[in-house]
Amino acid sequence: MSEHFLVTGGQRLEGEVSVGGAKNSVLKLMAAALLAEGTTVVTNCPDILDVPLMAEVLRGLGCDVELEDSEVRITTPAEPKYHADFDAVKQFRASVCVLGPLVARCRRAVVALPGGDAIGSRPLDMHQSGLRLLGAHSEIEHGCVVAQADDLHGANIRLVFPSVGATENILMAAVLARGETVIDNAAREPEIVDLCNMLNQMGAKVSGGGSTTLTIQGVRKLEPTTHRVIGDRIVAATWGVAASMTRGDVRVRGVNHKHLGLVLDKLRTAGAEVTPEVDGFRVVQRERPKAVNFATLPYPGFPTDLQPMAIGLASVAEGTSMITENVFESRFRFVEEMIRLGADARTDGHHAVIRGVPVLSSAPVWSSDIRAGAGLVLAGLVADGVTEVHDIFHIDRGYPRFVENLRGLGGIIERVGTE
Ligand code: UD1
Repeated sequence: MSEHFLVTGGQRLEGEVSVGGAKNSVLKLMAAALLAEGTTVVTNCPDILDVPLMAEVLRGLGCDVELEDSEVRITTPAEPKYHADFDAVKQFRASVCVLGPLVARCRRAVVALPGGDAIGSRPLDMHQSGLRLLGAHSEIEHGCVVAQADDLHGANIRLVFPSVGATENILMAAVLARGETVIDNAAREPEIVDLCNMLNQMGAKVSGGGSTTLTIQGVRKLEPTTHRVIGDRIVAATWGVAASMTRGDVRVRGVNHKHLGLVLDKLRTAGAEVTPEVDGFRVVQRERPKAVNFATLPYPGFPTDLQPMAIGLASVAEGTSMITENVFESRFRFVEEMIRLGADARTDGHHAVIRGVPVLSSAPVWSSDIRAGAGLVLAGLVADGVTEVHDIFHIDRGYPRFVENLRGLGGIIERVGTE
């Protein structure tokens, strides 16, 4: 049985919503537990499908994993297994983040490739070339990335693009390598800083987290720790954009507003009053949003994960918006679904031009990934009638308690099963 959402448009969102830990952080922190023998505890874990899936990957590697409420306890053996097979990793791409820790801990890793993704091809060349510079031979063989190192040593590594995943894998391999590693043009996302903080709590020597240069002094051994995941800035911003689109008044809690500097500025340009608060922010939009241009870029640029929400906002804004996607090649597939909802949108390569219309028109639409799914629900909130959003398992992978949270803000949404 698959499920879909029925979203009734026309409601103004109002109230308060709390976000959990960041999906893009928790999975890497769970992988980092492989680096130390013993029990690592990660708290503030979001209630999303990817967390139990990651637990399965770790169990397959010999860890004992207990999940309870928002806490995960991972007990890593003295000698973890080094083979993450296809059955374990096929369901989600982030599982590739076990590669770096396995190379560090076992000096070898075999990690099945999870395959293509609806947002564009996602090669691992930067992960591999970084690991090679650290002394790990790495090839793709029979659908797996295979890495082996006799001697893992420090190196100077300059990434051609500040890839989040490559930065994380190289970092997690380098913490147990001999000598100093410098990663230049490293990703600067808050989730990378979260990982650096946890690694340092475990006894690693990492400096420069949040800047373009990470310096790592390798150590012989790490110890388990307890670490709280940072709040999910993408989920938080989704609710902020929803407030703006529906001319609502929403207070978002559980996130550091500084992680959303540019995003909140864009909402201000759209005409919202945005107030930073101690553990979040508040968005109040009184008039119809104004058109805003967005260009996605690595942090601190506008996040590609919020591009569908930006398109949703642009679709009902007054005026014409230009949206440029610089990170993932196929992310504009989502625009086809928006056109189905009556958006006046046109794409050319990695640019989209959106002429705002006063109201969208409900239709059946299909989610192609987590963020596209959330973007379609937001569009449904400003469409006349009832919008059917299909393939919502994507949304469940990234948004904890999505229906409850949206209803809590006054949205009308129903989860319906289909045979
Ligand atoms: C992570 C996030 C994802 C977010 C993305 C960019 C997780 C689980 N996912 O994905 O939500 O949208 O960062 O902020 O944290 N690339 C290469 N070769 C490589 C690695 C990447 O060409 O070896 C390219 C990718 O195809 C893409 C770009 O670099 O075009 C950015 O990818 P990357 O930053 O690595 O994203 P992920 O870590 O996969």
